[in-house]
Amino acid sequence: MYKLEIIVRDEKVTEVIDVLERFGYAGVTMYPVEGRGRQKGLVEQFRGRKYEIPFLPKTKIEVLVRNEDCEKVMDRVMEVARTDTVGDGKIFVYPVIDVVRIRTGEKGECAL
Ligand SMILES: Nc1ncnc2c1ncn2[C@@H]1O[C@H](COP(=O)(O)OP(=O)(O)O)[C@@H](O)[C@H]1O
Ligand SMILES: [Mg+2]
Repeated sequence: MYKLEIIVRDEKVTEVIDVLERFGYAGVTMYPVEGRGRQKGLVEQFRGRKYEIPFLPKTKIEVLVRNEDCEKVMDRVMEVARTDTVGDGKIFVYPVIDVVRIRTGEKGECAL
């Protein structure tokens, strides 16, 4: 299993969640975050002038996926979250050691 931390524009969240659901992943954790990438939060232009805001709001979506789905999910998320402009976000990928469903004691993929 892998954990994907998907950081995207707020307006892309619904589409990303739809992608995950279509792959059979209903269980997700998400929260609002503030961050910056290479442009250090720089907002390009607004009414002819440049504004610099240190951290920009995004949404982080966390989801655990099976090994065999990982690449396909990432590809599809990239397709829907991409606007081809700076600030489209990132996906961080982590190997997961285990998961347990507290109610039943199920472990591993059965607990996803
Ligand atoms: N190296 C990093 N470590 C942790 N979080 C990051 C990193 N780079 C980007 N982020 C997170 O991803 C969000 C989107 O980054 P983005 O501007 O698309 O990246 P980049 O400018 O590097 O292409 C940031 O607001 C921040 O929350
Ligand atoms: Mg950036």
